Amino acid sequence: MVQTATRNAPLLDCLAGKVAPVPPMWMMRQAGRYLPEYRALRAEKGGFLELVYDSPSAAEITLQPLRRFEFDAAILFSDILIVPYAMGQDLKFLAGEGPHLSPTLVDHALEGLTAVPERLEAIYETVRLVKADLSPDKAFLGFAGSAWTVATYMVNGEGSRDQHATREYAYRDPVAFQAIIDAIVDLTIEYLIGQIDAGVDAVQLFDSWSGSLSPAQFERWVIAPNIRIVAAIHERRPGTPVIGFPKGAGEKLASYARETGVDALGLDETIDPVWAAANIAETMPVQGNLDPLALLAGGEALESAVAHILRTFAGRPHIFNLGHGILQQTPIEHVHALLTLVKRGV
Ligand code: CP3
Repeated sequence: MVQTATRNAPLLDCLAGKVAPVPPMWMMRQAGRYLPEYRALRAEKGGFLELVYDSPSAAEITLQPLRRFEFDAAILFSDILIVPYAMGQDLKFLAGEGPHLSPTLVDHALEGLTAVPERLEAIYETVRLVKADLSPDKAFLGFAGSAWTVATYMVNGEGSRDQHATREYAYRDPVAFQAIIDAIVDLTIEYLIGQIDAGVDAVQLFDSWSGSLSPAQFERWVIAPNIRIVAAIHERRPGTPVIGFPKGAGEKLASYARETGVDALGLDETIDPVWAAANIAETMPVQGNLDPLALLAGGEALESAVAHILRTFAGRPHIFNLGHGILQQTPIEHVHALLTLVKRGV
């Protein structure tokens, strides 16, 4: 349950529709490899998944960026692929290669998997540890992947440039693919409710690969499953805001915002804030959308990109964020410069 009145967290006020002179701010992947203290803990524990499953370490990593920067939110340190892992796929993060899931669902039916729900418990423990330590003016965000994006990894076993295998599978056998989507949706709802009950204030749905779908497929595999997830959260944990982030959705963002029921809309860096201001209801909080490469470059490029975003979203509920995760080569001083620019305003 959100307690905006007693919590006094600016980011939760924004999610409730309040306009602030300085937008609240956090960064996608704010806990991660650009921070030396993250790299040190990762080296000590041996790898990414080892960190996620060591709740005290995962809680510490969640809080690391807030010890350095005046962000308005902590985001749970975990990964969207914990859901397939709990559905019974094996998960490995190989150095320099990204995630691998097996068996892939192209060759094996969903029925071949045995669910391992205990794999979610450590994540809830991380939430409880962070919650106990988080200052009340900070929002705590939980998250999950959207069903489509999670399915692309489950079907193909790893990331791919254009999600070819999964898009083809969805056309070839829509009944089997629908069963995969439904199973992901069902577990995602329980997982998000578990996070909320353990202490997160709001949740974000990451749909990183929604951009590869044709409009009709987008309706079926992005909008429809998200309607189910958002409705279940709203019904079962009323007052918990849901931020939808359909990366790459382009002009389909407008129907996504109207139809899914999300409380706020994440924008990636390819969206012109001017387009978003004109096409997304003025009352819907928007989040974004600085190009992570402008942050990496710094200087004049950073200043003008930040000014354009602040100017365009002034007067409407806006959470300042990147359009996608911070890049690991980003200098820490650039993050300090960004905070100064956002807090100073235009
Ligand atoms: O934003 C945050 O700081 C919260 C934590 C978080 C992670 N992954 C940590 C992570 C979140 C919200 C995610 C989401 C996620 N994971 C997405 C959706 C958002 C996006 O980035 O598009 C996706 C597609 C994944 C799957 C995933 N996890 C990939 C493809 C990779 C490898 C690529 C990479 O950046 O290394 C990961 C690993 C991962 N997840 C890391 C972190 C900090 C890097 C792990 C490491 O090497 O230390």
